[in-house]
Amino acid sequence: MGFYAEKIFPWLLDKLETPEMGEQRALVLNGVSGVVLEIGLGTGANLPYYPDDVRLLTAVEPSAAMQPRAEQRAKEAGRTITLTQQAGERLPFEDERFDAVVITLVLCTVEDVSTVLTEALRVLRSGGRCHFLEHVASPDPKVRKWQDRLNGMNKVVGCGCNLNRDTESAIRAAGFCIDRFNRATLPGFMGKLHPLIRGVATKPEAIGSQNPAPLPPPPPA
Ligand SMILES: C[S@@+](CC[C@H](N)C(=O)[O-])C[C@H]1O[C@@H](n2cnc3c(N)ncnc32)[C@H](O)[C@@H]1O
Repeated sequence: MGFYAEKIFPWLLDKLETPEMGEQRALVLNGVSGVVLEIGLGTGANLPYYPDDVRLLTAVEPSAAMQPRAEQRAKEAGRTITLTQQAGERLPFEDERFDAVVITLVLCTVEDVSTVLTEALRVLRSGGRCHFLEHVASPDPKVRKWQDRLNGMNKVVGCGCNLNRDTESAIRAAGFCIDRFNRATLPGFMGKLHPLIRGVATKPEAIGSQNPAPLPPPPPA
């Protein structure tokens, strides 16, 4: 891992965190409960927003450089977390282990979106939920053109981050049912370049399994 990925990128991620992004994190984590896996923990920016209903929090993150910041955040948030250095394409957990999987700003970067989502499905219990918040290809063709133009540069600055993935389709193609779906655009040019999708996708019920608990009502916008 080079100096940029090891030292600058984790610092940059925290620098780019805004109150508006915090609001999006709180919204996507609303209703997360039980035994939870976060894929791609990064510097742990979600940790302050997990509801108290989360009983056990486990995370995977391939970059060791993120760990000190994530540990500091966990301490500040009073959260105990089990962190394994691992990519989402090969989750070191047995089938149906988790009630919920959380993925935020990660599917833009992973090498193989479809494999990560298939792994997320595998480790979720039947009826379990994937809470996702991702920046994606813009539905606006003019913005999309800029995303395509700037994608190469963005991948360098963002350590592999793509601006133009169709993540909603990938979530559906993996076999999830999307129960809740919102779009948001944060202020400024960077907000426009990184339009967000936020939602909850359910692992379809296997025959004879328990019904999922109802989702809590969405919080006021
Ligand atoms: C933009 S950061 C987002 C971090 C955090 N999820 C957040 O919401 O702030 C992208 C993260 O995805 C991680 N990542 C990259 N490839 C991955 C993979 N194949 N599996 C899981 N995480 C990955 C990176 O190391 C980085 O921490």
